[in-house]
Amino acid sequence: MLTGDRLPTIPTHRLRLRWLEDSDARDLFVVFSDPVVVKYFGLTRMRDLAESKELVRHIQSSFREHSLYQWGVELVSEGRIVGTCTLSHLDPRNRRAELGFAIGRGDQRKGYATEAVQALIAFAFGELAMHRLEADVDPRNKPSIRRLEALGFQREGYLRERWLNDGEIQDTVLYGLLAREWGGQTV
Ligand SMILES: CC(C)(COP(=O)(O)OP(=O)(O)OC[C@H]1O[C@@H](n2cnc3c(N)ncnc32)[C@H](O)[C@@H]1OP(=O)(O)O)[C@@H](O)C(=O)NCCC(=O)NCCS
Repeated sequence: MLTGDRLPTIPTHRLRLRWLEDSDARDLFVVFSDPVVVKYFGLTRMRDLAESKELVRHIQSSFREHSLYQWGVELVSEGRIVGTCTLSHLDPRNRRAELGFAIGRGDQRKGYATEAVQALIAFAFGELAMHRLEADVDPRNKPSIRRLEALGFQREGYLRERWLNDGEIQDTVLYGLLAREWGGQTV
């Protein structure tokens, strides 16, 4: 588990995974007010900036409770948050956590998710000494499934009607990656 009062910054080539501040609420709103981005993300689409500010407060307090680590993904050249990366369901006893990621629609297909998630996986298996990472994905979420498989995650199971998201019942595909399988590969 992490100590300190905020998440450590994780630098990559073009990005910085960093602690989210109240002033990032506007950038987060752009990402999470988009129905395409939230469709399979388990979040109701944001309607106004107040909801985005509330999300930042939730992320900050969840870090202090060690129930969720959610980094902002900042595009360094523009000083702008383009998405988030998360470790949730942190289970130090079994050294596992669940991985999540989202990139705003206007910034997708530029390799940002791959770059950010590779760095986060390295951090989880390195600094956090995790043994296993999991991802819970809607089977229709092809971009996410492609990212996970390219990163080396293996499909481990299919769970029917696991979520009720925005009034819709959704199935889940469960993916897993073990520390010994992670070669720090670039995809
Ligand atoms: C899943 C998600 C994060 C992928 O984000 P992304 O930033 O587009 O991912 P990447 O850019 O790393 O890779 C996407 C594609 O772009 C390609 N790509 C990478 N760099 C590129 C570049 N410079 N130019 C063009 N294409 C590029 C990749 O090869 C990849 O192609 P493929 O899907 O055919 O394999 C994004 O679609 C998303 O936020 N979805 C909504 C949220 C969600 O459902 N999250 C998952 C739930 S856990």
